[in-house]
Amino acid sequence: MPDETLDLPLIHRVLDSHKEVPGALLPILHAIQHGLGYVPDAAVPEIAHALNLSLAEVRGVISFYHDFRTSPPARHTLRLCRAESCQSRGAEALAAQLREQLGLDDHGTSADGALSLRPVYCLGACACSPALELDGQVHARLTPERLRALVQGCMTEAGA
Ligand code: FES
Repeated sequence: MPDETLDLPLIHRVLDSHKEVPGALLPILHAIQHGLGYVPDAAVPEIAHALNLSLAEVRGVISFYHDFRTSPPARHTLRLCRAESCQSRGAEALAAQLREQLGLDDHGTSADGALSLRPVYCLGACACSPALELDGQVHARLTPERLRALVQGCMTEAGA
């Protein structure tokens, strides 16, 4: 399905400023995602043409890195820390709780576009494990109840 909102001028500006740089594909993808919030599939032919790559090569890189989104971002992004300190303080149980509460996998987005889950590997809050980042703000010393309340807040606001 064509993307009616594709911002071609932004994509062309990004391509023009990067295309002579060796190894430009990743910086280009990051710049497009920074500008649009995701990398639309309709941008792939533009990128492939500018870098003389195949569509499959560009799509392969996009799909290899979980940080690249191919659809508009959710209104909230929750990144639960899965690194060692948080793991030792119950992060896996919290991850299971999230999956059950939302019916999503670790990289999923709720159907209403309210919340995306992303794992992260250390937020620098190890002394206060387990921790997560919600929309850029770190929440530490998580409990199942606090996690449930944070998620509920995102979902309730979405339905308001
Ligand atoms: S291991 Fe989770 S914040 Fe460092």
